[in-house]
Amino acid sequence: MYTENIKKDVLLFVKATLTNQIAKFLPGFYVRITAQTGRGEGEGNSDEIADYFYQCCRDYREQLGLDEAEFRAYLSDKTILEYGPGDILGVALLLRAYGAKTIHCVDRFPLNKISEKNMLVYQALINRLAGDEKQRAMSVFNVPGDPESGFNRDIIEYSVTNSGLSGETDIYDLIISRAVLEHVNDLEATFLDIKNALKAAGTSIHKVDLKSHGLDRYRPFDFLTWSNASYRLMYSHKGFPNRWRVNKYVQAAQNARLSIKNLAANETLSHEKIDTIAPYLAEDFRNISKEELSWLSFWMVLEHVD
Ligand SMILES: C[S@@+](CC[C@H](N)C(=O)[O-])C[C@H]1O[C@@H](n2cnc3c(N)ncnc32)[C@H](O)[C@@H]1O
Repeated sequence: MYTENIKKDVLLFVKATLTNQIAKFLPGFYVRITAQTGRGEGEGNSDEIADYFYQCCRDYREQLGLDEAEFRAYLSDKTILEYGPGDILGVALLLRAYGAKTIHCVDRFPLNKISEKNMLVYQALINRLAGDEKQRAMSVFNVPGDPESGFNRDIIEYSVTNSGLSGETDIYDLIISRAVLEHVNDLEATFLDIKNALKAAGTSIHKVDLKSHGLDRYRPFDFLTWSNASYRLMYSHKGFPNRWRVNKYVQAAQNARLSIKNLAANETLSHEKIDTIAPYLAEDFRNISKEELSWLSFWMVLEHVD
């Protein structure tokens, strides 16, 4: 394990191990008080948060290789699954506005809530739309246009399951996630859920963030130097990163018999920085190529194997 201050790290280990027990027995409570969204460190105002959801949809469109008009045509009447939407169902609302039939959001933690702040975000999302798209966005609520009335489950359904998985078979045209797969505790089970829930001609798109989520202490990626056993004791119940690198995702896709249509890093760490941490890596990461180790985040697009 890499350290520059052993006392500080022992204290961190003890504290993190104790709080992991809180997270084990009171998971909803723990995740609510420490919750991260995919939206980054500083929580912005409602317009900035709305920007984030518009950007998510643009990214999904680009991963599909479609222009604006093609994206809307593609979404028409589609049934969509989103893993781990976080506290605001902004992507689901926009996909519905653009033409999707239904969106099912499934999470392991009950983060979704209709707070004052979140209602302003829904309003900001709707205010930027016009015509039919605005009407469709408003229709996601029990009382059209009123977030306080809650989501109409026939259009946007939100469910929390023990595993964060859908358990469905052959019903979704599109399955998406962003900043979620790096948190799942059983990657193989998640890929199997994608495989089972996706229709034969469906597509599944995931943005995966391999960064440390604030767990590096001295150098980039030093969170990969805790032994597997220590890391598990400290973080296994907190929804923190599972630490798997891109090679594990490729393996999980192959094991589930999903074909990888696109796999691309969109941020990388320099090889020099990898070199400084390489001698201290935990066992699971020692045989990964430098190139794969350098990936900080990536996109993965999956389809059924023909
Ligand atoms: C960093 S947040 C990202 C939220 C949202 N996708 C965004 O981009 O803002 C991670 C999400 O993954 C969810 N999550 C964590 N572990 C999960 C699991 N095993 N299965 C499904 N979702 C999980 C969290 O509850 C949370 O909603």
